Amino acid sequence: MKGVLAVWIIATAFQYSIAAYADLGITYGTNGDNFPSPVRVSEFLEKDMKHKIPIVRFLNADVEILQAFSDTNLGVTISVTNAEIPTVATSQEAANAWVHDHITPFAANSRVRFRYITVGIEAIPGDLAPLVTPAMTNIYQALILVKSKDFIKVTTVVSPTVLGQSYPPSTGQFEQSVSGVMDNVTRFLQNIGSPLLLNIYPYYALVNEPDKISMQYALFQSKEPVVIDGEYKYYNLFDAMVDAFVAATEKVVGNGGLRVVVSETGWPTKGNEPYTNVKNAQIYNSNLRHHVITVGRTPRQGDYKMEVYIYSMFNEDKKPDPVGASFGTFNDDLTEVYPIWH
Ligand SMILES: *[C@@H]1O[C@H](CO)[C@@H](O)[C@H](O)[C@H]1NC(C)=O
Repeated sequence: MKGVLAVWIIATAFQYSIAAYADLGITYGTNGDNFPSPVRVSEFLEKDMKHKIPIVRFLNADVEILQAFSDTNLGVTISVTNAEIPTVATSQEAANAWVHDHITPFAANSRVRFRYITVGIEAIPGDLAPLVTPAMTNIYQALILVKSKDFIKVTTVVSPTVLGQSYPPSTGQFEQSVSGVMDNVTRFLQNIGSPLLLNIYPYYALVNEPDKISMQYALFQSKEPVVIDGEYKYYNLFDAMVDAFVAATEKVVGNGGLRVVVSETGWPTKGNEPYTNVKNAQIYNSNLRHHVITVGRTPRQGDYKMEVYIYSMFNEDKKPDPVGASFGTFNDDLTEVYPIWH
């Protein structure tokens, strides 16, 4: 009996230590056919993968998916979609109803842990941009009503299009046309203690400027620093892209800026040779994983452990462009497209 207990304790401790050091998860886009059922995916992540992927992000708050994940010991991030922003931003009742429908049924008696509610995905820049902070405010108030504000962080997701300057990273600042909105977003997140979520794709940066950026730098393969920015040395483009955001938020709130979390990154396997292939995708995602696990910090944000979500769980064949459709790391039968998690 003692022996069994000891094994159980070690196994449990091991499981938690994995969850604690690897703040690396996956974003589960659902723009495709033939995906396994949400129940099968939740069981796969919890049991087959044994918590190697302890955190999952969804691009909406589909009740069927939430139901499937509610009895797992996984951390989940859900999203108020861009289409839902206008209603939630202009009506506290609508925000209360959103939380009542998507959080309340799953938060109380379930094992699942909600990590973030992202209000809008790349809604800035755009017509919805001025509504993002009002919508986050209403969702935050709704969480106070159900006493969940300390457990679930409200935030939003942005991409490098909100930056006017990003090279070298220390010069990072918000683009002029969105700086009013982004200053408000940054201050709001600072006030409520939430991070800013970033979609960061070195792949797209590379293919936009192939004469300026090397493949090695984009794929975490540089042996020497490629960019030296004051006291900080950059060996990979991922860190440089993240730190440009850190610098931009520092210019708004000072004190090292906001904590940032990478809600999407990844590499496509098809559609734009010679950049897109399984080999490059495997190199990028394995090196990213190694970087998150062994270094775990960007040069400029040494105080915070990285938290990164690989895009994506599956290839999404309903997306119109072949590159965008090919970020999947698992096949529809839940085998790996290429090994990265072991
Ligand atoms: C920023 O917030 C202030 C105070 O709530 C508001 O008056 C202003 O319109 C906001 N600016 C933008 C660009 O949304």
